[in-house]
Amino acid sequence: MNTRYTPPPPPARPDVCQPTGSADLAMLDVYMPMMKSAAILSAGKLGLFEALANGPLDIATLADALQSSTRGIRDLADFLVAIGYLHREGERFANAPGTQRWFTSAGQVDYTPGLHWTLEAWPMMGDLTAAVRRGGPETTLWQAMEAKPQLGTAFSAYMDAFAGDLGPDLLAHVPVSPEHRRLLDLGGSHGMHSIRFCQRYPQLQALIVDLPSALSETDTTIARHGLSERIHVSPGELLVHDWHGQHDVVFYLSVAHNHTADENGLAIQQIYDALNPGGLLVIHEYLADTPGNAFMAAFRLTLLYETGTQTYRYAQYRDWLETAGFGDIKRLDLDPLEKGSLILARKA
Ligand SMILES: C[S@@+](CC[C@H](N)C(=O)[O-])C[C@H]1O[C@@H](n2cnc3c(N)ncnc32)[C@H](O)[C@@H]1O
Repeated sequence: MNTRYTPPPPPARPDVCQPTGSADLAMLDVYMPMMKSAAILSAGKLGLFEALANGPLDIATLADALQSSTRGIRDLADFLVAIGYLHREGERFANAPGTQRWFTSAGQVDYTPGLHWTLEAWPMMGDLTAAVRRGGPETTLWQAMEAKPQLGTAFSAYMDAFAGDLGPDLLAHVPVSPEHRRLLDLGGSHGMHSIRFCQRYPQLQALIVDLPSALSETDTTIARHGLSERIHVSPGELLVHDWHGQHDVVFYLSVAHNHTADENGLAIQQIYDALNPGGLLVIHEYLADTPGNAFMAAFRLTLLYETGTQTYRYAQYRDWLETAGFGDIKRLDLDPLEKGSLILARKA
């Protein structure tokens, strides 16, 4: 039986950018999101949410557990209450339900690695002005990861957490059949998508191709799941890499936005050539078809300074797929849309 703490139902999270009076106050829109992000990231780094996963604690106990000052933890906790991430129970502080669900090991998906990654990515944002002037980054994320390997490890851990969220959608919507035996996971990073599919479909074997920076923990993760006989890792640049023969299912999950249009056209043609008849290509992406959507616009801006690449419209994917020879092309928008879309296509 799970005896971990279950928080009471939440009050709605306040919009902290709104002034309390009737007059507008422009700088709140800048200062408050900055402080909100900084406080949540610090709480993640300190392990504050996880420390409260089993139930409320008072400030002295919490400060002791986090090896921090009581003054610092009190100020941080007070602000986290103000933004709806914690709430008070008398003298004790507790996780709000959303915090417990998304930022602790007791929740549905623990996005704490996303907090660690965002702390690493934060200084790169300082280059946004220059990236806007230049029209791209000075060095790409992948080059930065070569120089600073912990960046690659932190990014893969974040993608691993996101894969925990996306995993059930993929399992529900990707029709693997008994004849499908070989899975190729391009840009497969942490390996969790291959692991989940190999767990669900005992006839599958998988090959993960990714840059070395993304694969530092992958073999260990595969071994921890007891799948070292069935899942192998092959480090390299996916466009020039040997994919070891023919496959039945190919994953191209959150990889297209890291490549130029020409590179994607070439990759999709190579995938078609590497598929057996009846084989399936699965693309997960953030489509550029919703220009008014704030998340999609933020993501495009992130790509500008991180990789210099972009998101593409569904019509562009159809064009690449049809040119390569694919048929039976289907699109499925996930809920919420910020989770992206799946595109499935089949080789006849
Ligand atoms: C956004 S992550 C997605 C990871 C994983 N597919 C998932 O959906 O969770 C993109 C991945 O593509 C990999 N990648 C980017 N450019 C690549 C290239 N040229 N060759 C191989 N992998 C690449 C990155 O290292 C990273 O692991």
